[in-house]
Amino acid sequence: MAIDYQERIPNNVDLGSNRTLQRALEHWQPEFLKWWQGMGPTDFQASDVYLRTATSVDAKGWATYGHVRMPEYRWGIFLADRDPNRKIGFGDEFGKDVWQQVPGEHRSVLRRLIVTQGDTEPASVEQQRLLGHTAPSLYDLRNLFQVNVEEGRHLWAMVYLLHGYFGRDGREEAEQLLGRHSGSIDNPRILGTFNEPISDWLSFFMFTYFTDRDGKFQLKSLAESSFDPLARTCQFMLTEEAHHMFVGETGIGRVVKRTLEVMQEIGSDDPEAVRKMGAIDLPTVQRYLNFWFSSSLDLFGADSSSNAASYFANGIKGRPDEAQYEDHLAEAQTYELEIPDGKGGVAVESLPMRNAMNEVTRQAYVRDCEVGITRWNRTIAKAGFSFSLQLPSTRFRRSIGSWAGTPTDPAGTPISAEAFEAGRAQWLPTETDRAYVQSLMQPVTEIGKMAGWIAPPDRGINSQPVPYEYVRLA
Ligand SMILES: [Fe+2]
Ligand SMILES: [Fe+2]
Repeated sequence: MAIDYQERIPNNVDLGSNRTLQRALEHWQPEFLKWWQGMGPTDFQASDVYLRTATSVDAKGWATYGHVRMPEYRWGIFLADRDPNRKIGFGDEFGKDVWQQVPGEHRSVLRRLIVTQGDTEPASVEQQRLLGHTAPSLYDLRNLFQVNVEEGRHLWAMVYLLHGYFGRDGREEAEQLLGRHSGSIDNPRILGTFNEPISDWLSFFMFTYFTDRDGKFQLKSLAESSFDPLARTCQFMLTEEAHHMFVGETGIGRVVKRTLEVMQEIGSDDPEAVRKMGAIDLPTVQRYLNFWFSSSLDLFGADSSSNAASYFANGIKGRPDEAQYEDHLAEAQTYELEIPDGKGGVAVESLPMRNAMNEVTRQAYVRDCEVGITRWNRTIAKAGFSFSLQLPSTRFRRSIGSWAGTPTDPAGTPISAEAFEAGRAQWLPTETDRAYVQSLMQPVTEIGKMAGWIAPPDRGINSQPVPYEYVRLA
């Protein structure tokens, strides 16, 4: 169904035919805008930003580009088209018709999943609200705002489901999504990672590479859901999410590229010498990577989980790309999970496969994270240096799962708490690292110019040149 932009709330769900829902959402809309003005990007609300807006939900050609003020962005409700033949793809109800309404027995679980997903969307906008003041270029500033408005739209997507399918308690939850705030003492966001402020652009690129990618895998699991409106919502969100990870991957890639240029220029890989030239030394990049990767791993939940097993059994949340598996029941299989043996070593526990679904998803995520690492390492090798960036072990610095509370080194070898503390400055960003990176965060707002710590992108957005007025500052 085509997107109707004549409506106050752009949508492709024929909102006009459901007056009650339309009124409820029209009531929520000004609250959302109030939140955006108060908690969204500071000080850039009057600037014209070169943004893309969804015009259809096809895989190809769904976007138009143009300069808009962010508060005038056409947030709306877009679902992937309905497949009338879609069947439940996994679990005990495999092969039956998918649900167009929420089954009573799964209501509270589905609501909780939607709320948890929905909460991360405005949270990330709040985390990033000050970054606009230190953007390394207008190109980057535009990308930040594109990510922000789309996270706002993802919030709309979840709020539509809450309003449309969960009645009164859904409406209350939708209000709460604007009531909690990232980092708030009294009313914080639900997940820990989303309460950490993101105050520098290296962290922003790490966040969009690692944490938005967690989002991708959560959405992929929910895109398999038997609750069809949720599946279709997530399918379309995934197309938007791809840009966020592009921002992360190219952002880190450009940092590495600039650092390599400096290393070649000075003929040295000495971190101090690299810093004197105003670039970010590769060991610091590695420490940021260790931090954000390990914190994003926790978002997948416990590695052995009876909740995950029941989500799978009941067809609520599947595995990413469920179609690639042969056995969609996963009833008789087991998963060999490595856990600490309590004596400083590693033991193997055999889990029923359904209980290991979080871990299965996490491992798919780790493989996806490797892609960028390989690419960056290729540039490093090509530049003639022997350094290589690496993902730490999934056991490293975990707060959730079997390895929570068991210190390991980045290779995953269990070590004493003292040894961990001794290694910390080598493995994780130090105060000095953070202060150095922060010192580089000076805004560059001239058309086509880049800050000295990052290389220009290979190409601009939507075939525009890199020197282009991606943001017309007010
Ligand atoms: Fe999102
Ligand atoms: Fe995202």
